[in-house]
Amino acid sequence: MGYEKVASLEDLWEGDMDTFETGDGTEVLIAVADGGEVKAYQAMCPHQQILLSEGTFEEGIITCRAHLWTFECKTGQGINPATSCLAEYPTEIRGEDIYVNVEGIEPVMAPA
Ligand code: FES
Repeated sequence: MGYEKVASLEDLWEGDMDTFETGDGTEVLIAVADGGEVKAYQAMCPHQQILLSEGTFEEGIITCRAHLWTFECKTGQGINPATSCLAEYPTEIRGEDIYVNVEGIEPVMAPA
């Protein structure tokens, strides 16, 4: 499988995030952090599997719309709760295209 194109740089401005799909149907959250760094994370919130792209992305912080869990965009680290985090997928920018590699990476689920 390896790296696959999931989006183009023109799909997202700095400070934007959205959900894209790989060829095998894996949903990926792409977020463009301050400074233009492109990050790719699991699309679903670890808490109760709500799409993170339905929440907000402000000042580098991704907030889930459902119960307001928050994550640092540059690292995927949970802020509230700090024990949570997002699984990150490696990304590559090739020309104007965003490639991600989801192989072997499982989304984080909140502890029961
Ligand atoms: Fe995201 Fe609960 S589902 S905070």
